[in-house]
Amino acid sequence: MDLHFARLNQLAFGYWHAQTLFTLTQAGVFDTLHGRGGGTAGEVAAACGLDPDSGTALLDAGVALGLLRKLDGGRYDNSEMSQALLVSATPASLVHWVRVMGRWVAPWASLGRALQAGHAVEPQSPRIAADPAYLEEFILGMHEYASRTSEQVAAAVELEQPRILLDVGAGAGTYSIALCRKYPQLRSTLLDMEEVLPVARRIVESSGLDERIAARRTDYRSSSFGAGEADAVLLSNVLHQESRDVGLDMLRRALAALKPGGKVIVHGHFLDESRTAPVFATLHNLSARTLWEGGHSYTTHEMVDLLAQAGFEAPAAVAVAASSTKLVMGRRPTGRDHAATSASPLANETP
Ligand SMILES: C[S@@+](CC[C@H](N)C(=O)[O-])C[C@H]1O[C@@H](n2cnc3c(N)ncnc32)[C@H](O)[C@@H]1O
Repeated sequence: MDLHFARLNQLAFGYWHAQTLFTLTQAGVFDTLHGRGGGTAGEVAAACGLDPDSGTALLDAGVALGLLRKLDGGRYDNSEMSQALLVSATPASLVHWVRVMGRWVAPWASLGRALQAGHAVEPQSPRIAADPAYLEEFILGMHEYASRTSEQVAAAVELEQPRILLDVGAGAGTYSIALCRKYPQLRSTLLDMEEVLPVARRIVESSGLDERIAARRTDYRSSSFGAGEADAVLLSNVLHQESRDVGLDMLRRALAALKPGGKVIVHGHFLDESRTAPVFATLHNLSARTLWEGGHSYTTHEMVDLLAQAGFEAPAAVAVAASSTKLVMGRRPTGRDHAATSASPLANETP
């Protein structure tokens, strides 16, 4: 019984922990303490625009959660974890990603209404596109998070001497960067919304791969991805944002963009066949339904079926080492005419 009560407490109070992390990050506490090598509550509160007494309460809760340390003389400093992951200037920083998670508290609070309606009632795509600060945080945040496993994802991809990759809904191009590092002859084109391209180009430049990675404005819901020239088309963490019909149409346009024998690579979080595990995938499914118009998760079998329906040959799931994500890959059949699939009703060229 005590165990049940403890578990219930953990679940019910979980967002108190998260909200404290988000507030410390949004207020800039970790950067402030890093900049000055620790500080008193008064100094931090003044630098972060917090009321001194309430600011002290926030710092003390941060200490209790292992995000901060309290030093002799009442000074505070970052904990080892915060210093490594929550300071903007550190290479492994996850600050933008944590800020995005903080932004999603409000739409997540609409979960019940979204589940009643059967679709997102606070869809985030239009908000992200209309707010440059949100957009930059989103793209940088996804990049910070993806960078932690992009090499493992690239390692799980098997392509034969690929030269042309199309990265659909590429964001910062994190996986294109990892795949171009793995395959020295590979060139990639990042396909994303116009507003995303400057941020993506900045990240690509800082990777030193700007000679091999280009970026092209694309509405992935309606644009052609290309006509039979690509060795591989990557759709990483995008299909869960869309309805099944839109996803199928995107896969058909991916097929049309591939050479015969070329591969589609769908990367993301998948439910197992019970649909009740892994835990994160079940919550990701709720998140997709709350944040994205038409969003929902797939099991790997459902994705394999969708690839087969789109016309791919030998669709199969592949595990990614040291990651909770998976790949589902399929091949464009050789010796078949795919003119019919390239003339999908939603397809039209982006100028
Ligand atoms: C969750 S992020 C995934 C980014 C990257 N592929 C990754 O795996 O880290 C989804 C991406 O889809 C892009 N996106 C959303 N709607 C789009 C649309 N209609 N056309 C093109 N890109 C879109 C977003 O801008 C964002 O970069």
